[in-house]
Amino acid sequence: MTQTSPQILQPDPVGLAQAAALLSDGRLVAFPTETVYGLGADARKAEAVAAIYAAKGRPSFNPLIVHVSSVEAARQYARWTPDADRLAQAFWPGPLTLVLPLLADHGLSALVTAGLSTVALRVPAHRSARALLAAFGGPVAAPSANPSGRISPTTARHVVQGLGGQIAAVVDDGACTVGVESTIIGLTGTPTLLRAGGLPTEALAAALGGPLAVAPPPVAAGEVLAPGQLESHYAPRAPLRMNAAAARQGEVFLGFGRMACDHNLSATGDLQEAAARLFELLHLLDDLGQPIAVAPIPGHGLGLAINDRLARAAAPRPEAPQS
Ligand code: TXA
Ligand code: MG
Repeated sequence: MTQTSPQILQPDPVGLAQAAALLSDGRLVAFPTETVYGLGADARKAEAVAAIYAAKGRPSFNPLIVHVSSVEAARQYARWTPDADRLAQAFWPGPLTLVLPLLADHGLSALVTAGLSTVALRVPAHRSARALLAAFGGPVAAPSANPSGRISPTTARHVVQGLGGQIAAVVDDGACTVGVESTIIGLTGTPTLLRAGGLPTEALAAALGGPLAVAPPPVAAGEVLAPGQLESHYAPRAPLRMNAAAARQGEVFLGFGRMACDHNLSATGDLQEAAARLFELLHLLDDLGQPIAVAPIPGHGLGLAINDRLARAAAPRPEAPQS
């Protein structure tokens, strides 16, 4: 299906009702969450979910997060556990995704879970995401609204730049406040960190009363990475180098804390501010097309998610980056 530019919808009742109607019609609608913009489709409609993979150019059927409006809605799809209860009570709505065993008769498209026996669920906190879920009244499958492998979108403009011709509409409600994707916890056995993200792991461990298992191993700042160890992802077109003390010739320098640099993730060394600005600055530097050097980022709190995204952006590319 050929589509022209997406409709830009306002985050008011009229715009959100239009967005919900498009979702009901099986169309793709991008919408803001507190983490990044998501590319939404009705999670029960196989064709709509397939259109997500096609629009993103996602090479394989990597399972998607199902966004719901409440714990009660989440419990329709997953076998609930005491740990899920603890985490949901403490952090939903918010930047946390729980992977749980899928219930029988869940009604979701098998493409959402990529045929797995588990499902990833999240109740987002963003006012527009919540209003859209309420107006739509069903589960919304939504990966980040960027072409596969590229930088995630934190504004409606990023979405239009990346996926403009392929989606029906985008709800524009400004910049995302968290700025990195949700933290994903696996709850099919011992609680396990599957992806560092917008909710610091320290807070999760405190709520669970013990440390999280980690799989795969976290990417520590400064660790030497074997080629292929990391999937290239979140990648700008130009090469990116982490833990740089200074820029080399021709590089643009992305700083952190008090230092001389071209752009600063947070001049005061605030990791929350750095997370919120990360993708915006990577988009900006991507447009310049120069190689990027990034100053060291501390590995605690949101620094874990920031370093994970930077390491993927720095990872060897399997093929020439798409434009
Ligand atoms: O903040 C976010 O999480 C954003 C917003 C839009 O909610 N969404 C997002 O989706 O980042 P995506 O598709 O870019 O990343 C989802 C991740 C993938 O790495 C996928 O492998 C993992 O979630 N995932 C989904 N279902 C899973 C499952 N059943 N088991 C393990 N991992 C799963
Ligand atoms: Mg993504």
